[in-house]
Amino acid sequence: MRIRLDKYLSDMGRGTRSQMKKEIINGSVSVNGKAVHRPETKIDSEKDKVTFCGESVTYARYEYYMMNKPAGVVSAVSDKRERTVIDLLTDRTRSGLFPAGRLDKDTEGLLLITNDGGLAHRLLSPKKHVDKIYFAKIKGCVTKEDADRFALGVDIGDDSLTLPAKLSICSSGEISEIRLTLREGRFHQVKRMFQAVGKEVIYLKRVQMGGLALDETLRPGEYRRLTEEEVERLCSRERKL
Ligand code: URA
Repeated sequence: MRIRLDKYLSDMGRGTRSQMKKEIINGSVSVNGKAVHRPETKIDSEKDKVTFCGESVTYARYEYYMMNKPAGVVSAVSDKRERTVIDLLTDRTRSGLFPAGRLDKDTEGLLLITNDGGLAHRLLSPKKHVDKIYFAKIKGCVTKEDADRFALGVDIGDDSLTLPAKLSICSSGEISEIRLTLREGRFHQVKRMFQAVGKEVIYLKRVQMGGLALDETLRPGEYRRLTEEEVERLCSRERKL
């Protein structure tokens, strides 16, 4: 891919376009061992070797991170009042990253953060019905009748019933533990489905999205890059859907 030098560096998180223009003009950047002073210089992102302040900068068109979202941060790129999941990405990363989908502020668990809009669209499109699996703690005794109702679809106050969902009861009692597989992603869907059967979600965590499972070694707030195998699995599987 051919790309302007200032955009190349700014995409790779080295600073804003205008900062990069200044750095290039001031001689902080070299291409294939030679200082380059023109920000508009076109770079072949696969072949050319770019260094910034003596440090090599390779170009990744798309980046993919898995985060174990903690409670208390919002699934947004920026927010005037709240801390966002992007604020938690403290490593120097490329610009243009966004969370693929939303979890409520108090929900934990799997969040994909990427700059790949095509993949995000395929994962989130209501037409694609990508499975999302949640673990939840519920106030009240979750029963087989609840599972039967979820399997048929419930009225959560929208124009249509929810799509059939699979409810597995891990334990039931005063506080029940469940896993719920949804094929759609409506606003507050898990909480509203339990509300519809007279129960309250007191803890919610997403553990899987399509072919991607949460790495349980990540503590809330931690993240890591997806492995090549995970990216391949996610992209090839969601492409087919
Ligand atoms: N359903 C909810 O109610 N909240 C979430 O964050 C995700 C699914």
